[in-house]
Amino acid sequence: MKPPQTSSAHVLIFPCPAQGHVNSMLNLAQLLALRNLHVTFLNTEHIHNRLTRFADIESLPARYHTLRFKTIPDGLPEEHPRSGERSVEPLHSVKVHGKPLLRDILVKEKVTCLVADGFFGKLANDLAEEIGVPIIHFRTIGASCFWTYFWIPYLFDSNELPVTGEEDMDRIISTIPGMENLLRCRDLPSFCRPNRAKGEPFIPLETIVSETHQTLRARAVVFNTFDDLEAPVLSHLRRRFPTIFTVGPLHQHRESRAPTAANTMKSNNSIWEEDMSCMAWLDSQPFRSVVYVSFGSVTTVTRESLLEFWCGLVNSKMRFLWVVRSDMIAAGEGKDESVPAELVEGTKERGLMVGWVPQVEVLSHKSVGAFMTHCGWNSTIESVVAGVPMICWPYFADQQVNSRLVSDSWKVGLDMKDVCDRNVVENMVNDVMVNRKEEFLQSAEKLAILARKNVSEGGPSYDNLDRLIEFIELISQ
Ligand code: UDX
Repeated sequence: MKPPQTSSAHVLIFPCPAQGHVNSMLNLAQLLALRNLHVTFLNTEHIHNRLTRFADIESLPARYHTLRFKTIPDGLPEEHPRSGERSVEPLHSVKVHGKPLLRDILVKEKVTCLVADGFFGKLANDLAEEIGVPIIHFRTIGASCFWTYFWIPYLFDSNELPVTGEEDMDRIISTIPGMENLLRCRDLPSFCRPNRAKGEPFIPLETIVSETHQTLRARAVVFNTFDDLEAPVLSHLRRRFPTIFTVGPLHQHRESRAPTAANTMKSNNSIWEEDMSCMAWLDSQPFRSVVYVSFGSVTTVTRESLLEFWCGLVNSKMRFLWVVRSDMIAAGEGKDESVPAELVEGTKERGLMVGWVPQVEVLSHKSVGAFMTHCGWNSTIESVVAGVPMICWPYFADQQVNSRLVSDSWKVGLDMKDVCDRNVVENMVNDVMVNRKEEFLQSAEKLAILARKNVSEGGPSYDNLDRLIEFIELISQ
């Protein structure tokens, strides 16, 4: 690492107001600040208040002297739930109300480079162009899903889209370069489906495609991935987007770069309160005996689905640690949204149900043998780093693509996509934990070694971060 020098660059990092976006972009912010770039991290007030309560971010500027926080309102009333089905409304609201506020900050703070969440593509590009600030996009999704989003118009041109209905779901998509014959219609991003899942936050396919194509206007794009993980797609992507920086897995990268003092406090950048009792519970479980179950920060499930998962887990006779967020049970007409008491009681014999955990630490705990996940990109890449095989139940957006990568490209787990049945859950848990354990563990361990190599000194992601910093300094002049 180069000796610390104060940089004249001032980077504004602007994530979408959602857990899966804020945590990876905050990891990047810390990595840039470690290298003495001036970084302003712009949150909505709601997200910032939650990070202050649950992630102790107020201590960060003392640890990273060039990192500061700024906030803007998200334009929604205080009492808005900002969760579950309505979790994308803050994103839309910021797009509508945020422009003058962002303009003000860019100008007043003399920002020299804007690193914007690609989901804010048009808004951020237009402003950057108007003010004359160079812009870089950051994508919180994997390169494969980004490429799939990008390729959607060409799938319409070649008549591979639209998906006509249930009977069409197993048709193979053959023409995405680098992903030929990998995806079936059911593995395309959920936005391509004629029928969305119940309770799924709604984003129109046209918005996803147009925001993705906005990245062509950015000076560069940064991905929280590593070259060995998505090599075939990245080589195609680089032809369309010549300046790509793959710098992930960022949480691991932060750990490998940060000096001990800055790194003594672990942080999952959580906007939920972590229930640390799960760590003591894990300590008391046998080696690789626990299935860790979590569906991220947005997924909602019906009480019927919850019961199917629960029965499958109990019938598998495995131990399990299950994150059931307080807002996870889908709202329904006059229905009870609490976790049924018999499930909580019936879990106690071999399981633990909690509201939120320090996931990165849980995944690296020696007692964890598998991860039942919705395959959000952060969860997927965190599991890859920890070398933990996955059982996938994708919910929406990029997760359908990610779970296909897990099962069919990387072969580090199984994909139960579109099925929620106690027998399937039981069988898949047994396959990953017992019957095919060695096979999955071996592939997962190989991938974990590659992930760590990529962010270690001399690895591609490590070098790409240096290149990214040089690039920021160059375009900031
Ligand atoms: C969303 C999308 O679903 C995801 O696909 C996209 O890539 C980013 O935005 P989310 O659904 O929350 O994110 O999933 P994910 O990307 O996996 O992010 C969840 C984050 O919360 C992870 O970093 C995970 O470590 C953290 N988490 C989750 C906890 O710290 N504790 C928990 O109990 C559960």
